[in-house]
Amino acid sequence: LDNGLAGTPPMGWMAWERFRCNTDCIDDLQNCISEALFRDMADRLSEDGWRELGYEYLIIDDCWMLDQRDKEGRLQPDPSRFPGGIAKLARYVHDRGLKLGIYADMGSHTCMGFPGTPLHKIQIDAQTFASWGVDYLKFDGCYSNPVEQMLGYPMMSAALNDTGRPMVYSCSWPAYLGGLPPNVNYSLLGEICHLWRNYDDIEDSWDSVQDIIQWFSDNQDDLQPAAGPGRWNDPDMLIIGNFGLSVDQARSQMALWAVMASPLIMSNDLRNLDPNMRAILQNKVAISINQDPMGVQGRRLLQKKSGIDVYWRPLSNSCSALVFLSRRTDMPYLYHTYLSKLNYEAGSYQVYDVFSGSTRTGLNSTSKFSVSINPSGVVMWYVSPEEPSSQTRSDPAPHR
Ligand code: GLA
Repeated sequence: LDNGLAGTPPMGWMAWERFRCNTDCIDDLQNCISEALFRDMADRLSEDGWRELGYEYLIIDDCWMLDQRDKEGRLQPDPSRFPGGIAKLARYVHDRGLKLGIYADMGSHTCMGFPGTPLHKIQIDAQTFASWGVDYLKFDGCYSNPVEQMLGYPMMSAALNDTGRPMVYSCSWPAYLGGLPPNVNYSLLGEICHLWRNYDDIEDSWDSVQDIIQWFSDNQDDLQPAAGPGRWNDPDMLIIGNFGLSVDQARSQMALWAVMASPLIMSNDLRNLDPNMRAILQNKVAISINQDPMGVQGRRLLQKKSGIDVYWRPLSNSCSALVFLSRRTDMPYLYHTYLSKLNYEAGSYQVYDVFSGSTRTGLNSTSKFSVSINPSGVVMWYVSPEEPSSQTRSDPAPHR
Protein backbone atom coordinates (compact mmCIF):
# COMPACT_ATOMS: atom_id res chain seq x y z
CA LEU A 1 0.00 0.00 0.00
CA ASP A 2 1.63 3.13 -1.26
CA ASN A 3 0.87 5.85 1.31
CA GLY A 4 4.31 6.57 2.66
CA LEU A 5 4.31 3.97 5.45
CA ALA A 6 6.36 0.77 5.65
CA GLY A 7 8.82 1.85 2.99
CA THR A 8 11.04 -0.81 4.54
CA PRO A 9 9.77 -3.93 6.33
CA PRO A 10 8.11 -3.00 9.65
CA MET A 11 10.10 -3.81 12.78
CA GLY A 12 8.91 -4.26 16.32
CA TRP A 13 7.47 -6.64 18.84
CA MET A 14 4.21 -8.60 18.95
CA ALA A 15 2.71 -10.54 21.83
CA TRP A 16 1.31 -13.63 20.12
CA GLU A 17 3.95 -16.31 19.72
CA ARG A 18 5.45 -15.85 23.18
CA PHE A 19 2.44 -14.81 25.30
CA ARG A 20 -0.49 -16.26 23.32
CA CYS A 21 -3.91 -15.94 24.92
CA ASN A 22 -2.77 -15.95 28.52
CA THR A 23 -5.49 -14.00 30.29
CA ASP A 24 -4.68 -15.30 33.76
CA CYS A 25 -3.65 -12.13 35.53
CA ILE A 26 -4.36 -13.66 38.91
CA ASP A 27 -1.85 -16.50 38.94
CA ASP A 28 0.44 -15.23 36.17
CA LEU A 29 0.48 -11.46 36.47
CA GLN A 30 3.88 -11.06 34.81
CA ASN A 31 2.90 -12.87 31.63
CA CYS A 32 -0.80 -12.31 31.07
CA ILE A 33 -2.07 -10.15 28.18
CA SER A 34 -2.49 -6.84 30.00
CA GLU A 35 -1.49 -3.20 29.77
CA ALA A 36 1.31 -3.93 32.23
CA LEU A 37 2.88 -6.43 29.82
CA PHE A 38 2.83 -3.88 26.99
CA ARG A 39 4.21 -1.15 29.24
CA ASP A 40 7.02 -3.50 30.23
CA MET A 41 7.83 -4.21 26.61
CA ALA A 42 7.61 -0.51 25.69
CA ASP A 43 10.14 0.19 28.45
CA ARG A 44 12.47 -2.48 27.15
CA LEU A 45 12.15 -1.38 23.51
CA SER A 46 12.99 2.19 24.43
CA GLU A 47 15.64 1.57 27.10
CA ASP A 48 17.57 -1.40 25.72
CA GLY A 49 18.61 -0.04 22.34
CA TRP A 50 15.83 -1.58 20.23
CA ARG A 51 14.08 1.59 19.13
CA GLU A 52 17.30 3.10 17.77
CA LEU A 53 17.80 -0.01 15.65
CA GLY A 54 14.34 0.37 14.12
CA TYR A 55 12.21 -1.89 16.32
CA GLU A 56 9.42 0.63 16.81
CA TYR A 57 6.01 -1.06 16.56
CA LEU A 58 4.65 -2.58 19.77
CA ILE A 59 1.77 -4.76 18.68
CA ILE A 60 -1.09 -6.17 20.72
CA ASP A 61 -2.39 -9.46 19.32
CA ASP A 62 -5.57 -11.42 20.10
CA CYS A 63 -7.23 -11.60 23.55
CA TRP A 64 -7.16 -7.92 24.51
CA MET A 65 -10.93 -7.50 24.23
CA LEU A 66 -13.92 -7.81 26.47
CA ASP A 67 -16.30 -10.42 25.10
CA GLN A 68 -18.87 -7.85 24.06
CA ARG A 69 -18.98 -4.45 22.38
CA ASP A 70 -20.01 -1.32 24.32
CA LYS A 71 -23.41 0.43 24.05
CA GLU A 72 -22.22 2.41 21.02
CA GLY A 73 -21.14 -0.80 19.31
CA ARG A 74 -17.42 -0.24 19.80
CA LEU A 75 -14.85 -2.86 20.67
CA GLN A 76 -13.56 -2.47 24.20
CA PRO A 77 -10.55 -3.80 26.06
CA ASP A 78 -11.09 -6.09 29.04
CA PRO A 79 -11.15 -3.53 31.86
CA SER A 80 -9.65 -5.92 34.38
CA ARG A 81 -6.53 -6.34 32.26
CA PHE A 82 -6.47 -2.92 30.52
CA PRO A 83 -7.90 -0.64 33.24
CA GLY A 84 -6.39 2.47 31.64
CA GLY A 85 -7.78 1.72 28.20
CA ILE A 86 -5.99 1.60 24.86
CA ALA A 87 -5.75 5.36 24.31
CA LYS A 88 -3.75 5.75 27.50
CA LEU A 89 -1.52 2.84 26.56
CA ALA A 90 -0.97 4.46 23.14
CA ARG A 91 0.16 7.66 24.88
CA TYR A 92 2.56 5.68 27.03
CA VAL A 93 3.99 4.04 23.91
CA HIS A 94 4.18 7.31 21.95
CA ASP A 95 5.91 9.05 24.86
CA ARG A 96 8.71 6.54 24.44
CA GLY A 97 9.10 7.22 20.73
CA LEU A 98 7.32 4.00 19.75
CA LYS A 99 4.16 3.14 17.85
CA LEU A 100 1.22 0.99 18.92
CA GLY A 101 -0.32 -1.84 16.94
CA ILE A 102 -3.58 -3.65 17.62
CA TYR A 103 -5.37 -6.80 16.44
CA ALA A 104 -8.82 -7.35 15.00
CA ASP A 105 -10.41 -10.08 12.91
CA MET A 106 -12.31 -9.90 9.62
CA GLY A 107 -15.13 -12.23 10.63
CA SER A 108 -17.62 -12.99 13.35
CA HIS A 109 -14.99 -13.78 16.01
CA THR A 110 -11.25 -13.51 16.49
CA CYS A 111 -9.32 -16.77 16.25
CA MET A 112 -9.56 -17.11 20.04
CA GLY A 113 -13.28 -16.33 20.08
CA PHE A 114 -13.39 -12.65 21.02
CA PRO A 115 -15.65 -10.22 19.12
CA GLY A 116 -14.82 -10.10 15.44
CA THR A 117 -15.20 -7.34 12.89
CA PRO A 118 -17.88 -8.40 10.41
CA LEU A 119 -18.43 -6.21 7.35
CA HIS A 120 -20.89 -3.85 9.00
CA LYS A 121 -18.46 -3.13 11.87
CA ILE A 122 -15.42 -2.25 9.76
CA GLN A 123 -16.16 1.47 9.69
CA ILE A 124 -16.69 1.85 13.41
CA ASP A 125 -13.67 -0.29 14.33
CA ALA A 126 -11.35 1.71 12.07
CA GLN A 127 -12.68 4.89 13.67
CA THR A 128 -12.25 3.51 17.17
CA PHE A 129 -8.63 2.49 16.54
CA ALA A 130 -7.83 5.90 15.04
CA SER A 131 -9.47 7.67 17.98
CA TRP A 132 -7.29 5.68 20.37
CA GLY A 133 -4.12 6.71 18.52
CA VAL A 134 -3.33 3.29 17.10
CA ASP A 135 -0.60 3.19 14.42
CA TYR A 136 -0.85 -0.36 13.05
CA LEU A 137 -3.62 -2.90 12.54
CA LYS A 138 -3.18 -6.64 12.18
CA PHE A 139 -6.42 -7.78 10.55
CA ASP A 140 -6.80 -11.53 10.97
CA GLY A 141 -9.27 -13.72 9.05
CA CYS A 142 -10.74 -16.41 11.28
CA TYR A 143 -14.50 -17.03 11.04
CA SER A 144 -15.16 -15.48 7.64
CA ASN A 145 -15.53 -16.96 4.16
CA PRO A 146 -13.62 -16.00 0.99
CA VAL A 147 -16.46 -13.80 -0.24
CA GLU A 148 -16.57 -11.81 2.99
CA GLN A 149 -12.78 -11.53 2.94
CA MET A 150 -12.80 -10.26 -0.63
CA LEU A 151 -15.11 -7.47 0.49
CA GLY A 152 -13.73 -6.89 3.97
CA TYR A 153 -9.99 -6.52 3.41
CA PRO A 154 -10.31 -3.73 0.82
CA MET A 155 -13.10 -2.16 2.87
CA MET A 156 -10.89 -1.95 5.97
CA SER A 157 -8.09 -0.46 3.87
CA ALA A 158 -10.44 2.30 2.75
CA ALA A 159 -11.87 2.74 6.25
CA LEU A 160 -8.41 3.18 7.77
CA ASN A 161 -7.56 5.70 5.07
CA ASP A 162 -10.81 7.58 5.78
CA THR A 163 -9.83 8.09 9.41
CA GLY A 164 -7.00 10.34 8.26
CA ARG A 165 -4.67 8.67 10.75
CA PRO A 166 -1.69 6.94 9.12
CA MET A 167 -1.81 3.28 10.10
CA VAL A 168 0.21 0.32 8.87
CA TYR A 169 -2.23 -2.31 7.61
CA SER A 170 -1.28 -5.97 7.99
CA CYS A 171 -3.59 -8.42 6.23
CA SER A 172 -3.77 -12.10 7.13
CA TRP A 173 -6.00 -12.65 4.10
CA PRO A 174 -3.65 -14.73 1.89
CA ALA A 175 -2.90 -17.15 4.74
CA TYR A 176 -6.60 -18.09 4.69
CA LEU A 177 -6.54 -18.77 0.93
CA GLY A 178 -3.52 -21.05 0.76
CA GLY A 179 -1.11 -18.22 0.05
CA LEU A 180 -0.74 -18.73 -3.69
CA PRO A 181 -2.24 -17.58 -6.98
CA PRO A 182 -4.77 -17.96 -8.45
CA ASN A 183 -6.61 -17.89 -5.09
CA VAL A 184 -4.44 -15.00 -3.90
CA ASN A 185 -4.12 -11.84 -5.95
CA TYR A 186 -0.80 -10.32 -4.92
CA SER A 187 -1.10 -7.18 -7.01
CA LEU A 188 -4.38 -6.36 -5.27
CA LEU A 189 -2.79 -7.04 -1.88
CA GLY A 190 0.06 -4.69 -2.73
CA GLU A 191 -2.47 -1.97 -3.44
CA ILE A 192 -4.45 -2.29 -0.21
CA CYS A 193 -2.09 -3.71 2.47
CA HIS A 194 1.45 -2.94 3.68
CA LEU A 195 2.19 -6.52 4.65
CA TRP A 196 0.45 -9.84 4.65
CA ARG A 197 0.73 -13.21 6.28
CA ASN A 198 1.08 -15.77 3.50
CA TYR A 199 1.41 -18.99 5.43
CA ASP A 200 1.00 -20.91 8.69
CA ASP A 201 1.63 -19.58 12.19
CA ILE A 202 5.18 -19.83 13.43
CA GLU A 203 5.83 -22.01 16.48
CA ASP A 204 8.76 -22.11 18.85
CA SER A 205 10.82 -24.72 17.01
CA TRP A 206 13.42 -25.10 14.27
CA ASP A 207 11.00 -27.44 12.49
CA SER A 208 8.54 -24.61 12.19
CA VAL A 209 11.15 -22.09 11.03
CA GLN A 210 12.53 -24.55 8.50
CA ASP A 211 9.07 -25.38 7.17
CA ILE A 212 8.34 -21.68 6.68
CA ILE A 213 11.68 -21.08 4.91
CA GLN A 214 11.03 -24.08 2.69
CA TRP A 215 7.53 -22.96 1.72
CA PHE A 216 8.57 -19.39 0.94
CA SER A 217 11.54 -20.62 -1.11
CA ASP A 218 9.60 -23.27 -3.00
CA ASN A 219 7.04 -20.62 -3.94
CA GLN A 220 9.41 -17.72 -4.51
CA ASP A 221 8.41 -17.25 -8.15
CA ASP A 222 4.94 -16.23 -6.97
CA LEU A 223 5.96 -14.44 -3.77
CA GLN A 224 9.23 -12.63 -4.45
CA PRO A 225 7.86 -10.25 -7.13
CA ALA A 226 4.98 -9.26 -4.84
CA ALA A 227 7.32 -7.54 -2.37
CA GLY A 228 8.68 -4.02 -2.50
CA PRO A 229 8.53 -0.73 -0.57
CA GLY A 230 5.12 -0.51 1.12
CA ARG A 231 4.26 -4.15 0.30
CA TRP A 232 5.84 -7.05 2.14
CA ASN A 233 5.40 -10.78 2.47
CA ASP A 234 5.23 -11.75 6.15
CA PRO A 235 6.58 -15.17 7.12
CA ASP A 236 5.56 -14.37 10.73
CA MET A 237 7.34 -13.37 13.94
CA LEU A 238 10.98 -13.77 14.97
CA ILE A 239 11.06 -16.35 17.75
CA ILE A 240 14.72 -15.70 18.60
CA GLY A 241 15.22 -15.53 22.37
CA ASN A 242 12.59 -18.13 23.24
CA PHE A 243 13.06 -21.85 23.91
CA GLY A 244 13.10 -23.61 20.55
CA LEU A 245 16.16 -22.37 18.66
CA SER A 246 19.87 -22.91 19.18
CA VAL A 247 22.21 -19.98 18.55
CA ASP A 248 22.92 -21.29 15.05
CA GLN A 249 19.23 -21.73 14.30
CA ALA A 250 18.52 -18.23 15.61
CA ARG A 251 21.16 -16.84 13.23
CA SER A 252 19.49 -18.78 10.44
CA GLN A 253 16.11 -17.21 11.17
CA MET A 254 17.64 -13.72 11.33
CA ALA A 255 19.60 -14.24 8.10
CA LEU A 256 16.69 -15.65 6.14
CA TRP A 257 14.26 -13.00 7.39
CA ALA A 258 16.85 -10.38 6.35
CA VAL A 259 17.30 -11.69 2.81
CA MET A 260 13.57 -12.31 2.40
CA ALA A 261 12.85 -8.65 3.25
CA SER A 262 10.52 -9.90 5.97
CA PRO A 263 9.04 -7.80 8.75
CA LEU A 264 11.31 -8.09 11.81
CA ILE A 265 8.67 -8.46 14.48
CA MET A 266 9.95 -10.24 17.55
CA SER A 267 7.78 -12.27 19.87
CA ASN A 268 9.91 -13.00 22.91
CA ASP A 269 10.36 -11.81 26.47
CA LEU A 270 12.48 -8.67 26.21
CA ARG A 271 12.71 -8.58 30.02
CA ASN A 272 14.68 -11.77 29.98
CA LEU A 273 16.78 -12.33 26.91
CA ASP A 274 19.92 -14.39 26.49
CA PRO A 275 22.84 -12.11 25.48
CA ASN A 276 23.69 -14.25 22.43
CA MET A 277 20.12 -14.01 21.20
CA ARG A 278 20.03 -10.27 21.86
CA ALA A 279 23.21 -9.85 19.81
CA ILE A 280 21.64 -11.68 16.88
CA LEU A 281 18.46 -9.57 16.99
CA GLN A 282 20.53 -6.40 17.34
CA ASN A 283 23.04 -7.23 14.60
CA LYS A 284 23.30 -3.93 12.72
CA VAL A 285 24.44 -5.34 9.41
CA ALA A 286 21.73 -8.02 9.36
CA ILE A 287 19.19 -5.28 10.09
CA SER A 288 20.60 -2.98 7.39
CA ILE A 289 20.33 -5.82 4.87
CA ASN A 290 16.69 -6.35 5.89
CA GLN A 291 16.00 -2.61 5.75
CA ASP A 292 17.72 -1.95 2.43
CA PRO A 293 15.87 0.97 0.78
CA MET A 294 15.65 -0.72 -2.62
CA GLY A 295 13.31 -3.24 -1.03
CA VAL A 296 13.98 -6.14 -3.37
CA GLN A 297 13.20 -9.48 -1.76
CA GLY A 298 15.99 -12.04 -2.07
CA ARG A 299 15.79 -15.44 -3.70
CA ARG A 300 17.07 -18.94 -3.21
CA LEU A 301 19.69 -19.37 -5.93
CA LEU A 302 20.73 -22.94 -5.36
CA GLN A 303 19.55 -25.99 -3.54
CA LYS A 304 22.45 -28.44 -3.36
CA LYS A 305 22.15 -32.17 -2.87
CA SER A 306 24.64 -31.75 -0.07
CA GLY A 307 21.92 -29.95 1.94
CA ILE A 308 23.37 -26.48 1.39
CA ASP A 309 21.05 -23.77 0.06
CA VAL A 310 22.37 -20.45 -1.21
CA TYR A 311 20.27 -17.27 -1.01
CA TRP A 312 21.03 -13.94 -2.60
CA ARG A 313 19.53 -10.47 -2.20
CA PRO A 314 20.50 -7.42 -4.27
CA LEU A 315 21.05 -4.27 -2.19
CA SER A 316 21.58 -0.59 -2.86
CA ASN A 317 24.90 0.71 -4.20
CA SER A 318 25.63 -2.48 -6.15
CA CYS A 319 26.00 -4.40 -2.91
CA SER A 320 24.33 -7.69 -2.11
CA ALA A 321 23.80 -10.26 0.60
CA LEU A 322 24.58 -13.96 0.36
CA VAL A 323 23.35 -16.59 2.79
CA PHE A 324 24.66 -20.13 2.89
CA LEU A 325 22.17 -22.25 4.84
CA SER A 326 22.87 -25.79 5.94
CA ARG A 327 20.00 -28.23 6.24
CA ARG A 328 22.45 -30.88 7.36
CA THR A 329 22.35 -32.54 10.76
CA ASP A 330 25.85 -33.99 11.04
CA MET A 331 28.66 -31.48 11.33
CA PRO A 332 29.98 -28.20 9.96
CA TYR A 333 30.12 -28.57 6.20
CA LEU A 334 32.85 -27.04 4.11
CA TYR A 335 31.18 -25.63 1.03
CA HIS A 336 33.38 -24.69 -1.93
CA THR A 337 32.31 -22.33 -4.67
CA TYR A 338 33.17 -19.03 -6.33
CA LEU A 339 31.20 -15.85 -6.83
CA SER A 340 30.88 -16.14 -10.60
CA LYS A 341 28.94 -19.37 -9.95
CA LEU A 342 26.54 -17.31 -7.83
CA ASN A 343 25.69 -14.84 -10.61
CA TYR A 344 28.35 -12.27 -9.71
CA GLU A 345 29.89 -10.21 -12.48
CA ALA A 346 33.59 -10.41 -13.14
CA GLY A 347 35.53 -8.32 -10.66
CA SER A 348 36.88 -8.11 -7.18
CA TYR A 349 34.71 -8.03 -4.08
CA GLN A 350 34.91 -7.25 -0.41
CA VAL A 351 33.06 -9.59 1.90
CA TYR A 352 31.90 -8.90 5.43
CA ASP A 353 30.83 -11.96 7.43
CA VAL A 354 27.76 -10.68 9.27
CA PHE A 355 27.89 -12.96 12.30
CA SER A 356 31.63 -13.47 12.75
CA GLY A 357 32.48 -9.84 11.99
CA SER A 358 35.45 -10.75 9.85
CA THR A 359 36.26 -9.07 6.55
CA ARG A 360 37.87 -10.39 3.46
CA THR A 361 39.11 -8.13 0.70
CA GLY A 362 40.16 -8.81 -2.85
CA LEU A 363 37.93 -11.80 -3.45
CA ASN A 364 37.92 -12.30 -7.20
CA SER A 365 34.72 -13.57 -8.75
CA THR A 366 36.62 -16.47 -10.28
CA SER A 367 38.67 -17.50 -7.28
CA LYS A 368 37.52 -20.47 -5.32
CA PHE A 369 36.60 -19.95 -1.67
CA SER A 370 35.10 -22.10 1.02
CA VAL A 371 32.77 -21.43 3.94
CA SER A 372 32.16 -23.66 6.92
CA ILE A 373 28.44 -23.85 7.71
CA ASN A 374 27.20 -25.36 10.97
CA PRO A 375 24.30 -27.84 10.97
CA SER A 376 21.01 -25.84 10.76
CA GLY A 377 23.17 -22.74 10.69
CA VAL A 378 24.17 -20.08 8.22
CA VAL A 379 27.05 -18.07 6.97
CA MET A 380 25.82 -14.65 5.93
CA TRP A 381 27.86 -12.28 3.80
CA TYR A 382 27.48 -8.63 2.96
CA VAL A 383 29.23 -8.29 -0.40
CA SER A 384 30.39 -5.03 -1.97
CA PRO A 385 32.22 -4.46 -5.24
CA GLU A 386 35.77 -3.32 -4.79
CA GLU A 387 37.66 -0.71 -6.77
CA PRO A 388 41.22 -1.89 -7.31
CA SER A 389 42.41 1.14 -5.31
CA SER A 390 40.08 0.69 -2.35
CA GLN A 391 41.33 -2.68 -1.18
CA THR A 392 42.72 -1.20 2.01
CA ARG A 393 39.48 0.40 3.16
CA SER A 394 39.17 -0.26 6.83
CA ASP A 395 35.48 0.06 7.58
CA PRO A 396 33.59 -2.78 5.96
CA ALA A 397 30.20 -2.23 7.56
CA PRO A 398 27.48 -0.74 5.39
CA HIS A 399 26.31 2.71 6.43
CA ARG A 400 22.62 3.23 6.90
C1 GLA B 1 -4.11 -16.60 14.11
C2 GLA B 1 -2.93 -15.77 13.62
C3 GLA B 1 -1.89 -15.66 14.71
C4 GLA B 1 -2.52 -15.05 15.96
C5 GLA B 1 -3.72 -15.88 16.38
C6 GLA B 1 -4.47 -15.19 17.50
O1 GLA B 1 -3.71 -17.94 14.32
O2 GLA B 1 -2.35 -16.32 12.46
O3 GLA B 1 -0.79 -14.88 14.28
O4 GLA B 1 -2.90 -13.73 15.67
O5 GLA B 1 -4.63 -16.06 15.29
O6 GLA B 1 -5.60 -15.90 17.88
